[in-house]
Amino acid sequence: MTSTESSSQNLYDLIWGVNRVSADWSLGRFEKLHDLLGTLDVNGKRVLDVCCGMGSKAYAALELGARVWAYDGSVEGPNLLKHNVENQAATPEKIKGLKRFRYKVTPPDVKRLTIIPGQDVSAIVDHFGDEKFDIVYMGWALMHVADPEKAAKDLQTLAKQGGLIALTYYHQNYRSQLTLDIHEYTYGLPLEEAADITAKLGKRWGFQKVASLRELLDHAEDNQTLTALKKLLAEKNYTVEEVEEALHIEDMATPYLRNLHDDVVAGYFAEQCKELYRRPGLLRVKKL
Ligand SMILES: C[S@@+](CC[C@H](N)C(=O)[O-])C[C@H]1O[C@@H](n2cnc3c(N)ncnc32)[C@H](O)[C@@H]1O
Repeated sequence: MTSTESSSQNLYDLIWGVNRVSADWSLGRFEKLHDLLGTLDVNGKRVLDVCCGMGSKAYAALELGARVWAYDGSVEGPNLLKHNVENQAATPEKIKGLKRFRYKVTPPDVKRLTIIPGQDVSAIVDHFGDEKFDIVYMGWALMHVADPEKAAKDLQTLAKQGGLIALTYYHQNYRSQLTLDIHEYTYGLPLEEAADITAKLGKRWGFQKVASLRELLDHAEDNQTLTALKKLLAEKNYTVEEVEEALHIEDMATPYLRNLHDDVVAGYFAEQCKELYRRPGLLRVKKL
């Protein structure tokens, strides 16, 4: 199963669709890009944003003069990025700190952006063929893909010699056992039910709480997700309140949700790359 066959595409189309109305998608984009890459020196570079989502970091890279390719399994995310670039929709933001003098920020130019929506990451090398990039990054997605090792190797194939590869992911202690259990019991059930439940609990952006999980569980009969949550509660030692607190639509509906071990992720890059920086959930390497 690939994410585009599963509910992942629908899930992220739903998430980015809801975020469409949120004004703050662009906030902190330069800091986020800097945190990921360790630099904002992307002017004139070929940058590949893998699993870009709505692409706030891609937007920042465009503002800093990069040529950007934005690839994602969802259709909404990259299309929203393009729409936002065309409309220059990001909140104006200054680069903070002394480094700001080194970087020129200009309005993003849609001619420097190529979006690749609705494509599973497993097809990325086929898609780009022999094309190579100065910077390849993947923010918060490695833990969602079917084969993280293959994805990591593909990032190396796509980086040019001396190129920078950076990624963030859920690391070994990121997701609690409770959230992993929620995923195990509910993943694969109708996405609409999960979305409805998190909305009723006020857990999705902008939704007002109208029910507690305890109340919802009293009417679980026709709802597969609530039935699964009842089973989880019966079989594991959690309270209803703990489960309610932990419910998140991504935990209930994203495929392959997992915590990755930092050493294992670093190991994916050991042969072809030199490690530049690592902290839990973040790895930055240079292709040799
Ligand atoms: C948590 S979001 C991260 C978005 C963005 N990179 C960021 O840092 O904010 C995960 C993204 O990965 C994408 N994704 C998950 N699995 C994928 C797959 N197998 N192939 C392509 N994209 C995938 C989703 O569509 C979503 O946009």
